[in-house]
Parts: sequence; structure tokens; C-alpha cells
Amino acid sequence: MTFDRSIKIAPSILSADFARFGAEIRAIEDQGADWVHVDVMDGHFVPNLTFGPPLCAAIRPHIRTVMDVHLMISPVDPWIDAFAQAGADVLTAHLEAGPHVHRTLQAIRGAGCKAGLALNPGTGLDGVENLLDMIDLVCVMTVNPGFGGQKFIHSQIDKVKRLRALIGDRPIHIEIDGGITPETAPLMAAAGADVLVAGSAVFKGGSADDPAPYGANIRAIRAAAEAATGVRA
Ligand code: DX5
Ligand code: ZN
Repeated sequence: MTFDRSIKIAPSILSADFARFGAEIRAIEDQGADWVHVDVMDGHFVPNLTFGPPLCAAIRPHIRTVMDVHLMISPVDPWIDAFAQAGADVLTAHLEAGPHVHRTLQAIRGAGCKAGLALNPGTGLDGVENLLDMIDLVCVMTVNPGFGGQKFIHSQIDKVKRLRALIGDRPIHIEIDGGITPETAPLMAAAGADVLVAGSAVFKGGSADDPAPYGANIRAIRAAAEAATGVRA
């Protein structure tokens, strides 16, 4: 993974057909996805249950791009090695998941993954400042984590702007996650986000057998975001 701040679209497979992950991943990558976002939920840190390391290992051979694993679990440290061994390229833990996030980030990098730090909508940037040398990505949640298809929380735009200023020239991605559509993506791209996670807005209208809508959805989000950053769509 080389670092760049171009717009990257990361479809969340939380909105895919769970019986057909291999075909769904091929479809979104063929249709222009840059990263594949995998939402891991534990029924404790968030009120929903999804995937564990065996599922991640099973889909890994189907991913040609970047496997971006978002851990919505607490505690997180006991699981880091298993998700790294399952093939995560980026492993993101929540700032709110425990008292020793510095140790968590050390463990993620120590396991050979890029380290991501996710922030719930109610969390400010105070806890990020002392960790900037430890992280490769900050994920700003634009919904409360737990479910796809929720409404974008506009107060996070200002947070992304302040985060972008805090990051400066450091090679740290800003990822946004939740409620991203062609309408909300440009607001966040203009504020400084470069990785746009989208579940329902990518998968709506298509299927692994009829993937063209996935491509149209990805292109619509990308074009709106690139227009807002001044990059030609
Ligand atoms: C929410 C997840 C998101 C979610 C995004 O807890 O982290 O990745 O799947 O879904 P949409 O794009 O439908 O809001
Ligand atoms: Zn996510």
C-alpha cells in the first residue's frame, strides 16, 4: 500500500449478499472499488453481530485490492493477531474500545498491519493528538456504529476539517464511515476525507449477477467527491 490522498471508495460488505461474499467482492472490485471494508461487530461494543477472523480469512483470497477491517469490538487486543493472520491490510480499532489504545495501535503495527483509529460521533479529537505517530488512518464515524443504512450526522464535517488540520503533512488517511451517498460524500471530501466507506449507497439496485448498478453507484460517489476537491472526475 503506497500512501496517497486521492479519493478511494471502500464499499462495506455489510450491505452485500452474505451467502455470496466471493462473487460480491469480485463484482465491486470489477466495478471500481478501491478498498473492501469489512465491519466486525461483537454484540457488546455495538448492538449487532457480524464476522470473525475465519470469515475474514475465507474472503481474503477474493480481495485483490485492500482489505480494510473495522473492528467494532471490545476488548480488542486479544483479537488483533487473529485478524492480522486472516489477512487484514488495515486494522482499525475504536478509541472508545478500551483504556489502552496506544498499546492497541502498537500491537496492530507489530502484527504487520496499517493501524487505524476510529472515533464515534460523540468523541472529540483530544485523544487523537498524542497518537498521531502511531496511526496510518483515522476513521470518523458519521453514524453511530452498528448498522448500515443510517442517516449521515452533519456535525462530523467540522470534526473532519479540524482533523485534517491536525494531521498536516503526516501520511495519515482520513476515512469516513456511515451514511455516505453522492450528496454527503462531497461535504466530507471538501473537509479533507480521502477514504469513503459506503454500504447501502454502493450495493443498492445491483447484485453479483447484475453488477452494473454497483459501478454506477461507485462512479456517482467518486465523481461528487472529486468535484468537491477540485480533482477532475
Ligand atoms: C456502521 C458500519 C458502516 C456501515 C456503512 O457500523 O461501520 O461501515 O456498514 O453503511 P452505510 O453506508 O449503509 O451507512
Ligand atoms: Zn465500518
